[in-house]
Amino acid sequence: MTGVTARVPAKLNLQLAVGPPRADGYHDLVTVFHAVSLFDQVTVEPAEDGDDAVTVTGEGADRVPADQDNLALRAVVALRAAVRDRDTGAGAVHVTIAKRIPVAAGLAGGSADAAAALVACNELWAAGLTQQQLRGIGATVGSDVAFALLGGTAVGRGRGEQLTPALAPATQYHWVLAFADGQLSTPAVYAALDRLRASQGGSGSKRESQGGARRAASPGHGQPDLDAALMSALRSGEAARVGQRLSNDLQAAAVSLFPALRKTLAAGLELGALGALVAGSGPTCVFLAANAERALELAVSLSGAGVCRSVARVSGPVPGAAVVSAG
Ligand code: C5P
Repeated sequence: MTGVTARVPAKLNLQLAVGPPRADGYHDLVTVFHAVSLFDQVTVEPAEDGDDAVTVTGEGADRVPADQDNLALRAVVALRAAVRDRDTGAGAVHVTIAKRIPVAAGLAGGSADAAAALVACNELWAAGLTQQQLRGIGATVGSDVAFALLGGTAVGRGRGEQLTPALAPATQYHWVLAFADGQLSTPAVYAALDRLRASQGGSGSKRESQGGARRAASPGHGQPDLDAALMSALRSGEAARVGQRLSNDLQAAAVSLFPALRKTLAAGLELGALGALVAGSGPTCVFLAANAERALELAVSLSGAGVCRSVARVSGPVPGAAVVSAG
């Protein structure tokens, strides 16, 4: 085989409930992941000189490491280690990442590329690992890799790697993403949340999102809970109900580090979004629209309002990482 290309979606978190920091520095989460139609493509080809290498092109390519720190390369190395006892040639590869998912934007683009590299190398090497096995390997590379393999809408627990697919009807939701002029570091946002909670005198979770106004923080509340009302809204397929239950415990922390987001979120709600929140650790802002037409109107108005770098319309749920061509 001369090369395999896989396509992989960005993710949103429709709920992101964060517990106190654990001994290993991570935070226990309860999150509702949702894969959306903004895709990176990853191609793997046998490397002629015998060394793994990576080339990154597209959106934000100059900010993606092109060495052994690259998450896609780390996934290749982890998969090779996992199949070394098998009768399969897991030779050196050249990985080419074509990015459309912005870097350090809260959309798990790095984890997505790792997931795509796993499915592409699994095919190139004819390794025959199941998705479940790939998810186990992916979880060692990044907390969001397992979901990028699964796709759809799913509840994540632990660091986000323990997944249960959500039984939701075939509703497609229409989202507008507002990309910020800048990035946020995920560890910095988690650390800011810990500081905010310490200054509020509690370490707990519970929803502090939607601008912090509608739902008050509950200091002292330890472990995060799944939002039953969000799950019920998703089962109903009613976008207006889903919009009211979007929540992200990292939002206040992201806004504290990137105050311009407050204005972006407010603008989207004023322009008629059914719900608004920061994507993961930010700084992308996410807006839910009633249908494709409303999403187009919202995208046009938001880009005219000058409250973000650029906008994109996406829909979800979409499937996880998958091979799109092999030859
Ligand atoms: O797993 P990943 O490398 O994507 O995580 C990046 C950083 O985000 C971690 O080093 C940690 O600081 C923070 N994090 C966390 N709790 C999680 C996931 C990520 O504290 N559940």
